[in-house]
Amino acid sequence: MARAEIVYFSAMGHTEAISRSVRDGLASVDGVEAGLLRVDEVEGDEAWGRLDRADVIVLGSPTYMGGVAADFKRFMDQSGSRWYGRVWMDKLAAGFTVGGGLSGDKQSALQSMHVFACQHGMIWVSMGVGVREPGLDRLSSSMGLMCQAGNAPAEQTPPAEDHATAVAFGERVGRVAVRWVRGDDAES
Ligand SMILES: Cc1cc2nc3c(=O)[nH]c(=O)nc-3n(C[C@H](O)[C@H](O)[C@H](O)COP(=O)(O)O)c2cc1C
Repeated sequence: MARAEIVYFSAMGHTEAISRSVRDGLASVDGVEAGLLRVDEVEGDEAWGRLDRADVIVLGSPTYMGGVAADFKRFMDQSGSRWYGRVWMDKLAAGFTVGGGLSGDKQSALQSMHVFACQHGMIWVSMGVGVREPGLDRLSSSMGLMCQAGNAPAEQTPPAEDHATAVAFGERVGRVAVRWVRGDDAES
């Protein structure tokens, strides 16, 4: 069984809604268990232990000022003891971001997640969902999932196409996680 945890920040609910779609995609893959953790829940041994036991950690933040939100960066910095102990070495990692702009410098938020994962010695899973697949990936991203929320509540935006893309992204990460865990079993 591959264990996935999605750790995310969301102030107005759009990133949280996308997190649930990514979770649905992950959980649709046979052999994957997926959980959700808000960054403010990542306190104490129980929540950190969930991340320590995960085979894949999926990172999610709104894009704020062309990067990850400060609350998400706080989580990143608090993971420093895991970095020091190489606790997350060789776990899989993937990331997604939600921005208000069509571009909105979302790439920078994904890049900072990617570098964060590499600092931990994790293995980055790219988007793997192509713009050529009808109705998916309207923002044409490759490093991770990008979604765009307009000025409307999270029940209305991001649009259905972004949620479908989030489900497909979750499936892709889940399939990779199953292969990764199976390979680990084969070696032991
Ligand atoms: C302080 C602040 C900075 C923002 N900066 C950006 C930005 O650089 N690029 C962008 O596309 N959207 C930006 N936005 C819009 C948010 O990314 C967008 O509203 C997103 O849906 C918020 O996610 P949430 O509903 O999960 O909190 C910003 C919003 C705030 C409050």
